[in-house]
Amino acid sequence: MALLEVRDLKVYFPVYGGIFRRIVDRIKAVDGVNLTIEPGHTYGLVGESGSGKTTTGRAIIGLNPITSGQILFQGEDIGWGMRGHQSRFRKDIQMIFQDPYSSLNPKKRILDIVSEPLRNFEKLTPAEEKRRVQELLAQVGLSSETIYKYPHEFSGGQRQRIGIARAIALKPKLIIADEPVSSLDVSVQAQVLNFMQDIQKELHLTYLFISHDLGIIRHMCDHIGIMYRGRYVEQGTTREIFENPQHIYTKRLLAAIPDLDPSQRGKRQRQRQLIYQEYDKEFSQYFDHDGLAYALRPLSDTHSAAIPGRGQG
Ligand SMILES: Nc1ncnc2c1ncn2[C@@H]1O[C@H](COP(=O)(O)OP(=O)(O)OP(=O)(O)O)[C@@H](O)[C@H]1O
Ligand SMILES: [Mg+2]
Repeated sequence: MALLEVRDLKVYFPVYGGIFRRIVDRIKAVDGVNLTIEPGHTYGLVGESGSGKTTTGRAIIGLNPITSGQILFQGEDIGWGMRGHQSRFRKDIQMIFQDPYSSLNPKKRILDIVSEPLRNFEKLTPAEEKRRVQELLAQVGLSSETIYKYPHEFSGGQRQRIGIARAIALKPKLIIADEPVSSLDVSVQAQVLNFMQDIQKELHLTYLFISHDLGIIRHMCDHIGIMYRGRYVEQGTTREIFENPQHIYTKRLLAAIPDLDPSQRGKRQRQRQLIYQEYDKEFSQYFDHDGLAYALRPLSDTHSAAIPGRGQG
């Protein structure tokens, strides 16, 4: 059974205006997203700034109320938003944030930061709590003296490890990692990513991995969804997306990945030019008159793309 299934998720934000602060418009941040994540897998969500990636993640973890649609966790309605009722999946889903500098309270010691989720859910004695935090820190490769330090005493990569220790404290099943390494130095990014893969195996974690960096997505993910203005333009296995992209937007994103192999640079440069020309010429065929993606059309069991059908475009 899928660990997570999101069906036709819509998250609209009201826009207020006029002297009476009435709702005058709605921002369709997420506008009909479907995705399924199998246990132990890493699903990548890609797209440019403002495409709705974070809003999707926040809706899944219950931080953004959903306008419509359904979120199923292990086949059951996840139950955020039900009044007077705490979802029984609250412990199972945790989030890692982009900026380890602002997501850790600078006034708190690491002991208090990492034990926060434990204090909310488990009744431990101070000694037990300290031991658990030390175990968690050891799991992320930090020594046990770190519990009495403050966030500013750590590097960016170490802070992200502290964020991960906090996220795994309650033994979650799903971790939503929203741009977990974008604020880190390139040299530290690989370390944190590899570490995330190690603990994934160790703890049988499933990831929803949000990034605008397709190179990182390729390294981390087995399935990918590509968002544009709240909708999906394409989804498939990493292989399908990288080897057989069908939507012009996907092709353009792939073309923009920086070249790592200098011997291929000239060739890639020419391919890139061609894709950019194709994009400018064919953009209007791939999007409706409001500039939004069409509905996804299945291409294989796992691959689908928002390519126009007959009578569209
Ligand atoms: N609380 C909110 N109120 C109003 N609009 C919002 C709110 N949160 C997000 N939005 C809008 O929803 C859209 C999607 O935002 P979101 O943060 O999900 O994008 P994103 O893909 O994560 O972008 P980025 O790559 O910059 O993080 C944007 O237009 C954003 O301005
Ligand atoms: Mg975001």
